[in-house]
Amino acid sequence: MLADSLFILAIESSCDETSAAVVGDGKVLSNEIATQAVHAQYGGVVPELASRAHMQNMVPVVDAALLRAGQSMGMPAGEKLPLDRLKAIAFTQAPGLIGALLVGAQFAKSLALALNLPLIGVHHMQAHVLANLIPEHQPRFPFLCLTVSGGHTQIILARSPLDLEVLGETIDDAAGEAFDKSAKLLGLPYPGGPLVDQYAQWGDPQAFVFAEPQVPGLDFSFSGLKTSILYFLQKQEPGFIAQHLPDLCASIQHRIVNILLQKLKKAARQTGVKQICLAGGVSANSGLRQGFEALGKKEGWQTFLPDFQYCTDNAAMIAMTAHYKYLAKDFVGLDAQPSARAVW
Ligand code: KG4
Ligand code: ZN
Repeated sequence: MLADSLFILAIESSCDETSAAVVGDGKVLSNEIATQAVHAQYGGVVPELASRAHMQNMVPVVDAALLRAGQSMGMPAGEKLPLDRLKAIAFTQAPGLIGALLVGAQFAKSLALALNLPLIGVHHMQAHVLANLIPEHQPRFPFLCLTVSGGHTQIILARSPLDLEVLGETIDDAAGEAFDKSAKLLGLPYPGGPLVDQYAQWGDPQAFVFAEPQVPGLDFSFSGLKTSILYFLQKQEPGFIAQHLPDLCASIQHRIVNILLQKLKKAARQTGVKQICLAGGVSANSGLRQGFEALGKKEGWQTFLPDFQYCTDNAAMIAMTAHYKYLAKDFVGLDAQPSARAVW
């Protein structure tokens, strides 16, 4: 990489992952993530604890990202990418937990001020979509992206890195929430999504049939599914869940995956776009991955799935988005405010 390469340091702190990453000329050189284990005992993310953990993790994570970037650049062992090589500092501006976002924003602003560098505010959901531009095998524009995480469920039409349109989104719970809340009803610990996936491997997806939402257009709804599972379980004898756990998990997963893929198919047919991507933490789900690939084959899509480390919350996707925003000179001032809201 040349002396005048475009190095950007990015910070992600929207929820319970403290992450820092460096990109150089649009290539990811490091992506360090500290996951906060403290929330598991409470059955969900506790905002105040998340903010405190971000404060504790921030400096070591940024340090590790600069060190790893140095290694990627072939610098001598133990040497970090020098701060004076950076051209900009980026941070997740929205959406997320406001206290958590503030920690990252404040850190990024302080660094930008101290180093006299431009500051780039990144939309977290845009970044999830652009995570698909990290691997070498990339979609061509325009592409569709189904972003499924613990906080969001969206179908996005990406015409260029900075021109994204939301075609559909959830009107209540996110897909990850649907997994986690269903898991909770089955007595599984938080976050239950990965456990539902594991038990589902041994179960029959047709064993039980849960409600299918009737939502017009390309929007999603998952709250009815949760209620349908709750009412179904309330009618059963004690011991039913333990006896049928794999079948319950497989049936719940089948329903959620089906809801997601039906809408994705509809969006692809409506737009005529055949470059189709997945993003967000729920794209780790094996049922969704298999269903996505199978549907893609049937519909003649070219399908794209980023590495798992770029699907869950990470700063590499923030850095990648910042790369394109830098090229478009899309900077924010030191007075930029983070926002909890998706529209900011
Ligand atoms: O993108 P992410 O890491 O964080 C948010 O921005 O929300 O997504 C986390 C969500 C959680 O709801 C978690 O249960 C779900 O992704 N998840 C899964 C799987 N792995 C993670 N859900 C189903 N199956 C999985 N294998
Ligand atoms: Zn996310």
